[in-house]
Amino acid sequence: MKSILLVSRYYCDGVTSIELSNSPFLKACRCEPPEHVPVWFMRQAGRSLPEYRAVRKEGSILDAIKDPTLSAEITLQPIRRYGVDAAILFSDIIVPVHAVGFGIDIKPGVGPVTKDPFRSASDLKRLNHLDPDVDTPYVIETVKLCVSQLDIPLIGFAGGPFTIASYLIEGGPSRTYQETKRLMFEDPELWGQLMDRLTGICTSSLLSQIEAGASAVQLFDSWVGALSPSQYVRFVFPWVQKMFEEVSGTGVPIIHFGVATGELLGLMSEVGADVIGVDWRVPIDEARVRVGNKKALQGNLDPAILAAPWPSIEEEVLKILKLNDGHPGHIFNLGHGVTPNVNPEVLERVVQLVQQYRVGQ
Ligand code: CP3
Repeated sequence: MKSILLVSRYYCDGVTSIELSNSPFLKACRCEPPEHVPVWFMRQAGRSLPEYRAVRKEGSILDAIKDPTLSAEITLQPIRRYGVDAAILFSDIIVPVHAVGFGIDIKPGVGPVTKDPFRSASDLKRLNHLDPDVDTPYVIETVKLCVSQLDIPLIGFAGGPFTIASYLIEGGPSRTYQETKRLMFEDPELWGQLMDRLTGICTSSLLSQIEAGASAVQLFDSWVGALSPSQYVRFVFPWVQKMFEEVSGTGVPIIHFGVATGELLGLMSEVGADVIGVDWRVPIDEARVRVGNKKALQGNLDPAILAAPWPSIEEEVLKILKLNDGHPGHIFNLGHGVTPNVNPEVLERVVQLVQQYRVGQ
């Protein structure tokens, strides 16, 4: 019975844009009171789901992303299972730079890696302009396939230019971002040229996803919290601001997220996004003080506590909802992505708890 209901709820054709625009998720993005607090999870598709492991089998994730039927199926899996309020496209932040031929891959168990890191001006040649119709037609196709099957908003995304730059310069995941910071300070002009290219590539990618039907976009500048406020202002802010100026012209809400950005929240609120993602380190009422009352917040359950006993998880979820104190601009999410070992049943209970919560409870 449950599956029949889910099928009829999520697989009806022809949801109008007005219906979508009145969805709890898009209302919360605009700080209008939604019927319930909307909820979705970063990295909700992927390795934590048995149905994902069943369809993915072996092979590179980049090949899976190049297969629109498979990627659309993976995007929809968490929607069927959890009944979340938004879907996020199944893709990866390095897809556009991979597609323009930088020479970057995803190593299983590690993440994005390149044997030939970005070192000098000659490497700019490997970061040509992105033409989404030619370079990433499969992303456009996946967005269209998802949108035709969803009656909730689809979130498109790109990686923030700092976060992408860090993979290109470090050659893989990093803890210190030493080479990235060396380039910033040693050759600010080259850093600027690199950021120009990455900003252009990310902007084109986001615009192509919006044109294909994404209802919102998220910029994952996941590792930007490694910067001090003054580094952020000098080396990141102007480029992301330019990107948001272009993207906001579409009228589609922009979510801006990074991990460990507590000290940057005030600055991030000025870049131009509609929704600011908050990790678990800053209580949501304090985040509201730093961001101001006019923007929506997204977050901020610590993903690591999802392994704890249910009563503790329930307490933490309710704590966030109460600290938000009924502000209409709140999208419930984790403070960072779902980890692979999370029990999907726990996430299902979190969704129910959030959607059934009413202010004053
Ligand atoms: O986690 C974040 O901060 C989100 C932003 C981000 C993505 N990819 C988006 C994404 C980041 C930082 C990456 C880089 C990346 N790519 C890593 C992290 C490496 C590091 O530095 O710690 C990894 C492991 C990959 C490779 C990758 N991407 C895999 C193996 C998968 C499959 C699904 C899974 O469960 O891991 C992805 C998919 C992916 N990357 C998604 C997104 C938004 C789609 C899944 C979803 O959001 O539901």
